[in-house]
This record gives sequence, structure tokens and C-alpha cells, in this order.
Amino acid sequence: MLTSQVIIIGAGAAGLMCAMSTAARGRRVLLLDHVNKAGKKILMSGGGRCNFTNLYCEPANFLSHNPHFCKSALARFTQWDFIALVARHGVPYHEKKLGQLFCDNKSSDILDLLLDECEQAGVDLRLNTSVSEITRVDGGYQLQTSIGPTHCESLVIATGGLSIPTLGATGIGYQIARQFGHNVLPTRAGLVPFTITDPQLKALCSELSGTSVEDCRITCNGQSFVENILFTHRGLSGPAILQISSYWQPGEAISIDLLPRIDLPAWLAEQQRERPNSELKTLLADLFTKKMASLLAEHWFTSKPMKQYTPGELKVIAERLSDWQLVPAGTEGYRTAEVTLGGVDTREVSSKTMESLKSPGLYFIGEVLDVSGHLGGFNFQWAWASGYAAAQYV
Ligand code: FDA
Repeated sequence: MLTSQVIIIGAGAAGLMCAMSTAARGRRVLLLDHVNKAGKKILMSGGGRCNFTNLYCEPANFLSHNPHFCKSALARFTQWDFIALVARHGVPYHEKKLGQLFCDNKSSDILDLLLDECEQAGVDLRLNTSVSEITRVDGGYQLQTSIGPTHCESLVIATGGLSIPTLGATGIGYQIARQFGHNVLPTRAGLVPFTITDPQLKALCSELSGTSVEDCRITCNGQSFVENILFTHRGLSGPAILQISSYWQPGEAISIDLLPRIDLPAWLAEQQRERPNSELKTLLADLFTKKMASLLAEHWFTSKPMKQYTPGELKVIAERLSDWQLVPAGTEGYRTAEVTLGGVDTREVSSKTMESLKSPGLYFIGEVLDVSGHLGGFNFQWAWASGYAAAQYV
């Protein structure tokens, strides 16, 4: 039987960080994954440039039923710790916007860094390895795997969420949690585009497909984000939409302020004064693309010379552009979601060690836990921080 002090299931962001940091303490680590390559999501992330952390990472950037849980781990392995690691490996990076740090070259720079650290520390990485059964035995856990039976003192579950099954996502982490008496909070897709089925709205989105509008304010359930939106053939995407999707529940309306930086009533009044003979769609083309301006004027308003609008009509135009209420039909689901909301209930896990409060020697890290970050490098920072926290105790 293969015996290790620590077995980690899942060689993604959290599993790799935990493996390298645990092995660096001199512990014998076996890192298992059922796919043929470690860190597939790292490679896909950030459009191929991996948004590996965020300069302004704070607990407020995370969603969880237990918002305090993430604080301890985030404080003990911060964005600055990961930046120092990146710098030590000479990986070039830059801030894109809003504190989001991306590789200058490729995401593989981050994966190579983690694999390099694992190799230096002596981690035994086994890919194409599946786990069929886990039992608690004296002094630890016994696993039946495709490379034979294995035993460990500490077992770390780093199997991530359900997003993007084609990259290796499975629900095994939730199954294991339930097996050992844990509550798993309902899961759903987060950081995901919206679909629209309302025929008129769908036609508008489809005609504008590929058009992005900068710095819109999106609001839902008391949460707001100012970022870009993108029209797609099936609905709405772009960073602002992905962010708000994590706060949205089916059936709810979202509000979009297309021009949050403009005082619209004042702007429309000024245009009426200064350009009385210009049509609304011509004026809107100063604020949006020409196509979008004429489609909005056609779908939402009757375009006519500014001098013909009554004050009441101008008020309606201002309200529509600054508070566009729409009810998405749904989301694109786990097929394209960047994260899974919900997961292993953190009220049954130590926030200091990531150890199960139900089954000693069992640990949960990364996205399998009910901790999900905003868009912008926060989900990787959680993977690094939780992986590092567990590594100090396994
Ligand atoms: P992760 O999913 O990384 O790893 C889980 C591992 O467990 C996988 O290797 C999987 O194969 C393995 N596994 C699953 N089931 C198993 C089983 N049955 N047996 C054995 N192994 C099993 N975040 C961010 O901060 N910045 C970004 O730029 C992006 N970009 C991005 C793009 C895309 C397309 C996606 C889908 C996601 C992102 N994210 C992101 C989110 C980020 O990738 C994610 O939150 C982390 O990878 C989570 O790390 P984990 O290690 O918890 O899971």
C-alpha cells in the first residue's frame, strides 16, 4: 500500500499551493488528479493570461453564507505573498485595471511556477488517477484509487466546484463532505452570462451582439458594480454582468444604468436647448455606438427632433437609460460559469486550519468550500490562501 502523510485530491490552484507548501514543511505529499494535466483552469484563466490575484483583495470581495470565514486565511497569505512568489520566479506581470494582476505572457507561467515549487519540495504528483472509495481508519484515511490502495494521516479535498465539466470538474468533493457528515449548501453557477428569452429584448441583444458598453452600473439585491457589459446572441455578458450574476436569483430583475457618469436630465435639457433640431438618435450616437443609438431609439423611444419632446417624455428617456429594468431568463450555467456558489458549509470547518470539525484529519480548501470571490483575481487568491492555511497544519 502506498503510504503518505498527506494526500491531496485535486491538482488545481488550491491543491498545488497546498501540496508545495506542505511538502516544503518536510511532509510526504501525494497529490492526485483524475485528469491528464494539473491546473487546467489556471491555463484557461484570464483569457490565457491568468488574473492571478488582486491588489485590493479584501474579505468584502467574497460571497459566503459565513462571511467571516475567509478572513483568517486571507490575512495569513495575502496578495502580497503571492506577488512575492511570482516575483521570485521572475514571472512578468502587469495591472490591467481595478487592481487585477495578469501575466504579461501566458497563464502557463503561473502553472509552471507552482509545478516547479512542487517538484523542488518533492511532491508525488499522480495524474489520470481516480478515487473510488474513502474510509476512515485508525490514524487517518484509506483510499481506493486507480493506482491501488493508499493511506494518509491527513486528507485534503481540493476538487473545486462544478464549473466547466470539460476541464475536469466533478461533484466528488461534495460527496466526500456528505460522507463524513458535512452539510453542503445548495450550489449554483456564479460569474456567468445571462440568457434572455423575451422576444423583443432578445432581438435587441442579438442585433447588438458583440457591442460592449463601458462602465455601466449594474444593481441587484443591494449590490452594485460599475464595469463593462457585452451584448451577446443569447443575452448579456461582460464583467459587470458576470459580477452581478453571483448576487442574482431566478425571477429577479436587475437594473442597468447605461450612463452612470452623466446627469441625464441635465444633459437632455441642455441638448434640447443647444440642439433643438437634432433627433434623439443622433444625440445618443455621441454616447453609444451609432447602431446602438438607433436601436435604442427604435426599440425604446420614438426618435424625433429634441424640441418636440415634452418635459415628461424627457424624464422617461432619462429614467429608461439610467434604470433599465430587465429580468434575465436564466444563466448559461456551469458550462461557462467561472465559479460555483455554495458548497461545503464553512460553519463546520475551522477557519484557521481548514480542518473538518466533523472528521479529524480531513481538510477542505479552495472552491469546494462555500466561499466565492468577485471577478478580478479573487478566486485564485482564495485558492492560494486556503491552500496555504491548510498546509501549515496537515
Ligand atoms: P480547481 O477547479 O482549480 O481544481 C480542482 C481540481 O480537482 C481539478 O484539477 C480537477 O481535475 C480535480 N478533480 C475534480 N474532480 C476530481 C475527481 N473526481 N478526482 C480527482 N480529481 C478531481 N479566477 C481568478 O481568480 N482569476 C481568473 O483569471 C480566473 N479565470 C477563470 C476562467 C475560467 C474559464 C474559469 C472556469 C475559472 C476562472 N477563475 C479565475 C476561477 C478559478 O479558476 C477557480 O476559482 C480556481 O481554479 C479554484 O481552484 P480550486 O483548486 O479550488 O479548483
